[in-house]
Amino acid sequence: MRILSGIQPSGKLHIGNYFGMMRPAIELQERGDAFLFIANYHALTTVTDSDVLRDATWDVALDFLACGLDPQRTVFFRQSDVPEVTELAWLLSIVTPMGLLERCHSYKDKIAKGIAPSHGLFAYPVLMAADILSVQSDIVPVGRDQKQHVEVTRDLAIKFNNQYAPVFKIPEPSIQEHVAVVPGVDGQKMSKSYNNHVELFGSKKETKSRIMRIVTDSTPLEDPKDPDTCNVFALYKLFADANEQQAMADRYRAGNFGYGDAKKALFEKMWETFAPFRAKREELAANSDFVESVLQSGAERARVEARHTLDRARKAVGLV
Ligand code: ADP
Ligand code: TRP
Repeated sequence: MRILSGIQPSGKLHIGNYFGMMRPAIELQERGDAFLFIANYHALTTVTDSDVLRDATWDVALDFLACGLDPQRTVFFRQSDVPEVTELAWLLSIVTPMGLLERCHSYKDKIAKGIAPSHGLFAYPVLMAADILSVQSDIVPVGRDQKQHVEVTRDLAIKFNNQYAPVFKIPEPSIQEHVAVVPGVDGQKMSKSYNNHVELFGSKKETKSRIMRIVTDSTPLEDPKDPDTCNVFALYKLFADANEQQAMADRYRAGNFGYGDAKKALFEKMWETFAPFRAKREELAANSDFVESVLQSGAERARVEARHTLDRARKAVGLV
């Protein structure tokens, strides 16, 4: 079974990215033939500063390797090192109905947020389809917000296969239902664009201060509290095992346990959980040749697949 996922290097990664996408993507290396890439072509649709893009791309490489991505088992690469996908995106755009892209929530959301409606932003799902189809992926692990893009990919693959020749495998999205949406410090979906996120590798001070800012209700300290409606508890659950969750829920319900105490417990738990990753990240940051060689050899392997698919697609449409 082949699995592919990508992440945009559009800022420091946060714990919503970690639980919603990184961890599931890293774990899939246990289950099959995993491909994971840094979607820097996609990031160009929103990141306009070249230095910012370069740095963010590197940060994502370090983050994934630090969090357990094993380059022996996962083909890990930078999207722009596999330029075949841009040609494949053009071939797919021929079978892409305008209406299909016009219905994409992600495009509409970005426009609503004030991002300039460029052709690249509009055609974003077509490039994403090319990423997925180029390596003939069976499974695409993504967060819920990306599910529609995988559906677009399926539609395009089916249409191309019917219109020309059966070139593409039809992929399935894999949404981590039990993770769902990780809330941010204000209770909305955690997102760097809402600035309500807690960075994965932020400094101790910054991480603590973000956590202490989590919005809670005004139940007095001595009163019993409902863990199930509390943002602090929602985040704590991501890090704690079943017994720890139960113990924390009991403390909420018993009263005399304030939100400040819950936030401190959350901070400690999060800091401890990510400690080994932080150490590994420091080691990698001091060894950039190694990181670069991982990305280069990943790209070589991905290119073989992409070239093969592209050749078949070119032939199918009559370019050779
Ligand atoms: P952001 O909203 O911070 O810009 P992205 O849109 O770049 O994050 O998302 C990158 C990946 O992380 C996607 O697969 C997305 O589904 C996942 N993801 C982002 N935020 C969350 C969240 N709050 N909960 C779960 N998954 C998330
Ligand atoms: N659009 C995805 C995101 O914002 C990133 C991405 C690009 C991707 N190409 C992909 C994810 C292919 C999965 C498969 O998170």
